[in-house]
Amino acid sequence: MKAIILVGGEGTRLRPLTYTIVKAMVPVLNKPFIEYVFRYLSSHKIREIILAMGYKPDCITDYFGDASQLGTKLVYSVETEPLGTAGAVKNAEQHIDNAFFVMNGDVFTDLNLTEMLRFHENKGAKVTIALAPVDDPTRFGVVETDSNQRVTRFVEKPKREQVTSNMINAGVYIIEREILNRVPQGKRFMFERDVFPALLSEGEPVFGYATDAYWIDTGTPEQYLQLNRDLMFGKSVQVDFRPEEIRINEGASVNPQAKLTGPILVAEDCSVGKGAQLKGPVVIGTGCTIKDGAIIENSILWQNVTIGERAALKDCIVASNSYIDNNDCVECATIAQAEN
Ligand code: GDD
Ligand code: MG
Repeated sequence: MKAIILVGGEGTRLRPLTYTIVKAMVPVLNKPFIEYVFRYLSSHKIREIILAMGYKPDCITDYFGDASQLGTKLVYSVETEPLGTAGAVKNAEQHIDNAFFVMNGDVFTDLNLTEMLRFHENKGAKVTIALAPVDDPTRFGVVETDSNQRVTRFVEKPKREQVTSNMINAGVYIIEREILNRVPQGKRFMFERDVFPALLSEGEPVFGYATDAYWIDTGTPEQYLQLNRDLMFGKSVQVDFRPEEIRINEGASVNPQAKLTGPILVAEDCSVGKGAQLKGPVVIGTGCTIKDGAIIENSILWQNVTIGERAALKDCIVASNSYIDNNDCVECATIAQAEN
C-alpha cells in the first residue's frame, strides 16, 4: 500500500515560524515534524510515500534526499501552483496503483492504519475518512455518520450553529483509485469541499473510521507547542519520554548551578549558564546559549538561539537564530528573526 502526504500548504497560521521553514519541517523534539510521519507510516507497512508538495519543496528534498535511512521509498511530486488537496493527489496519479492512504502533512496521530484498512475493506468503501473527537469542530471538517458508520454529511469549517457532531475529519483517508477520475487535472480541487460532498450526494459508499487514539493538527503555534508538550508527557506511543526526564546531549554544557525540572531536552553545542532555570517542558535545539540567570518555562527553542542574562521566557516558541535581550520578559509569544 502507498501513502500520499499533503505538504503543499504555506502554513499561514504558523507564521512567523513558516517565513524561514516549511510547516512540515518544524522541529519537534529537535527532529523535523514530517520525519515522525514517515516513521509512523512505515510502521504500518507503507512501503512507498509520495510527498505532494508545492511551497518551498527544496526545504524537504534537500534534507531527506531519497530517505533510504527511513526504511521506506520516498517519491516527490511537486506542483507548480497550489492545486488544493485533491488536485495535489491528482497531480501524483501516475504513482498510484490501487487504493491508497492520504494524510494531511500537519497531523500527528497514533491511529491504527492497519485496522482502518481492514475496516475500509470490510465496508466495501470507496472512501474511508478517519474521524477524531475535538472540542471545537468549527476549525475542522465535521463529519456525521449513521449507525453503520456510513458518512451522511460533511461540512468543512462549519459555523457554530451548523455543528451537529464533535467528530471531525482527522485528515487521514483511504481512497480507491477510481475516485481520482472525478478530479480535474491541473485545477484547484479540494477533497473537503468538492469531492466528499459530491460523493455523498450521489450516494457513494463513504465511511467514517472513528478513533480515540492520540491525534493533533499542528497548524497553529498553540497546537505545535501542545504537540511537543504531549510527546514529552508520554501521550503518544511513538515517543519514549518520561515527564520527569532530563535528557541533555553530551555535547552540551550545563552549569552545575543551573536548576532543571523535567521534562527537558537539550541538544548538542548548547550552554546553560549559572543560576539559569529550565522549567519543563522545555526543548532546546542545537547551538543555543542560555545566559546566566535566564528562566525558561514551557517553551521551545530552535537552533542557535541566545537568551540573555536574567531574561524570562514562558510559553514561547523561538525560531532559529533569534536573540532575546538581557532582562527581557516574554510570555505566550512566537518569536522569529526577520529573513534578510
Ligand atoms: N500539496 C498540497 N497542495 N497540499 C496542500 C494544499 C495544496 O494546494 N493545500 C493544503 N495542503 C495540505 C497542507 O499542507 C496540510 O498538510 C493539509 O493539506 C491540510 O491543509 P490545512 O490548511 O492544514 O487544512 P486544515 O487543517 O484547515 O483542515 C484540514 O485538516 C483538518 C484536520 O486537521 C481539512 O482536511 C479538515 O477537514 C480537517 O478536519
Ligand atoms: Mg491543518
